[in-house]
Amino acid sequence: MSDQAEKLREMVGAMGAGAMPAPAPKRGQGRCKSIAVTSGKGGVGKTTLSLVLGASLAKIDKKVLLMDVDLGLANIQILLGIAPKFNIGHVVTGKCAIGDIVMEVAPNMFLAPGASGFEQLSNIDMGHFERLRAEFMSLEENYDFLIMDTGAGIGNTVTGFARHADLVLLVMTPDPSSMADAYAMVKVLYEKGNTNVAVVVNMAANEGEGRESFDKLRTMVEKFLKKPIRLYAILVNEREVLRLGRKQLHLAAGEGVNFYKTVSALAKRLGGHKSESAARGGFFSKFFGGA
Ligand SMILES: Nc1ncnc2c1ncn2[C@@H]1O[C@H](COP(=O)(O)OP(=O)(O)O)[C@@H](O)[C@H]1O
Ligand SMILES: [Mg+2]
Repeated sequence: MSDQAEKLREMVGAMGAGAMPAPAPKRGQGRCKSIAVTSGKGGVGKTTLSLVLGASLAKIDKKVLLMDVDLGLANIQILLGIAPKFNIGHVVTGKCAIGDIVMEVAPNMFLAPGASGFEQLSNIDMGHFERLRAEFMSLEENYDFLIMDTGAGIGNTVTGFARHADLVLLVMTPDPSSMADAYAMVKVLYEKGNTNVAVVVNMAANEGEGRESFDKLRTMVEKFLKKPIRLYAILVNEREVLRLGRKQLHLAAGEGVNFYKTVSALAKRLGGHKSESAARGGFFSKFFGGA
């Protein structure tokens, strides 16, 4: 995790500046835009949004890497109806390379299957840590978008990913407990220095209810954190989303359903913007503490 990475970075620093040369810059480094899909509370639609957003970006010709970092709950593969043999955990423990686990699940859309893994970073030796850092950094260069489906909650595991992302999509529902947990997440991310957080209200009864819940969150954020927060989208509760999810058919869904239509419009907005990460270094250079 990032905090563990920080410890390791300190160790590298203590070894002297010349001890661990940074990997040589390559063409296109840092152009990949990283998006962490997160929430304060589970079951709010993170995995569904990650998958549908990834698929929508892939449809407009963006090369997408979906990374399942909801440790212990590798849900994307379940929604896709696949059972990969190897996952990020195998990469971290050195059983295989990242290139061996990434699979194309739809044209332009690739999945790095998850399971517990990144939390083991603190147990590996420095040489392997450096190899992993280089591997993930060069992997990222091949994609336009990196979408990370993180777990829920404000633990280090989740915030370790979200704090370094170019954009955090914070999913909440109108449920009061979801809103309270969303507020806790905003607070932690702002404290960690990532204010590029945009809220997606999911499972709203209608637009009005979605806006009302966002306004409540915004009032709290402005009052107590003295910072703005923006609304990214309102997605309504639709039986069809639930049905298609159960049938593992999200990738086959059309735009007749509001969820897919709205997310597809979001993807077009995102796809039209140039990533700012080129100037700030790619996601993994920050995550592994090399930037
Ligand atoms: N807008 C929606 N309308 C109806 N059901 C939804 C909607 N969004 C998500 N769901 C359903 O809610 C459940 C939880 O979604 P999921 O994406 O797994 O959440 P998370 O990853 O946050 O735990 C799934 O059964 C999913 O199909
Ligand atoms: Mg999930």
